[in-house]
Amino acid sequence: MRALVTGGAGFIGSHLVEALVARGDAVTVLDDFSTGHAENLAAVRADIRLVRGSVTEPADVAAAAAGADVIFHQAAVASVPRSVEEPAHTHAVNVGGTVQILDAARRLGVRRVILACSAAVYGDRSDAAREDDAPHPESPYAVEKLAAEHYLRMWPSIYGTETVSLRYFNVFGPRQDPASPYSGVVSVFVDRLRKGLPVTIYGDGEQTRDFVAVADVVRANLCAADVPDARGLVCNIARGQATTINALYGALADLLGGPAAAHGPARAGDVRRSLAEVSRARALLGFEAQVSVRDGLARLLAG
Ligand SMILES: NC(=O)c1ccc[n+]([C@@H]2O[C@H](COP(=O)([O-])OP(=O)(O)OC[C@H]3O[C@@H](n4cnc5c(N)ncnc54)[C@H](O)[C@@H]3O)[C@@H](O)[C@H]2O)c1
Repeated sequence: MRALVTGGAGFIGSHLVEALVARGDAVTVLDDFSTGHAENLAAVRADIRLVRGSVTEPADVAAAAAGADVIFHQAAVASVPRSVEEPAHTHAVNVGGTVQILDAARRLGVRRVILACSAAVYGDRSDAAREDDAPHPESPYAVEKLAAEHYLRMWPSIYGTETVSLRYFNVFGPRQDPASPYSGVVSVFVDRLRKGLPVTIYGDGEQTRDFVAVADVVRANLCAADVPDARGLVCNIARGQATTINALYGALADLLGGPAAAHGPARAGDVRRSLAEVSRARALLGFEAQVSVRDGLARLLAG
């Protein structure tokens, strides 16, 4: 397969690139290095074609997408708080960039586009979220991911391009950048505990997340590339288990040693509960998460 991974220098994208290279696929990466890092691609740099550019620039997208069979569209401003601060910018990248990718795909005859969508589209829930449930996006980021997904849903019927939208829940693993103020909670906790710094949990810490290891998210993408029927498919990618932020911190503090966390104000745009119903991914993609949260944390700490 000839694959384009947008955002391939980022946390999830770089793991996906490594997996594709390992299977012998020909891989191009399109990344503007706004949050991605060249070091993330160090192990595969000689094996890939790298296009430095933006998904919002048609010429960059065309150069990167030429010859691709499948596009794994990971590039985004992947942050709820940043979208709250700069909604016009994040819309341009997260929605506009997706339309550029789809438009290039139709013009260049790319067979399939797979989108990194997000659990954020569901908003706050008291029960497990199913793909057919009405979405309730509660931040600009969530609206942007939902809008991008809607483009993928309608695209096959008009243009024929196959599409799959993967609604990732809370992904964690090696290379998640703790330096960013917008980074995932696991990487921030690990970084601060390792440095002996105090940790502040936003709100009371009883908010829940469905954590999924990056290795599983990579496998879900490979399943989405291979599944025969992909005309506007939408699937949750998660473990189907809720973990509170307090429990997550407790597990990490046990593993790394650390004092009790302090609590601060809740963050604007954060949802209270997030949990996935995962039967559709099993039925339609043949995907099931294999890495437990505890094993995933252990792998992260060992790496
Ligand atoms: N990490 C999670 O828990 C999670 C959950 C749900 C969805 N997602 C989605 O998964 C994808 C990957 O997220 P991540 O956690 O690896 O984030 P990340 O910030 O590490 O990766 C995003 C990558 O996209 C690149 N990028 C950003 N804007 C770009 C642009 N205009 N043109 C080209 N490249 C650009 C960045 O430089 C970076 O390499 C994103 O679409 C994100 O919204 C992530």
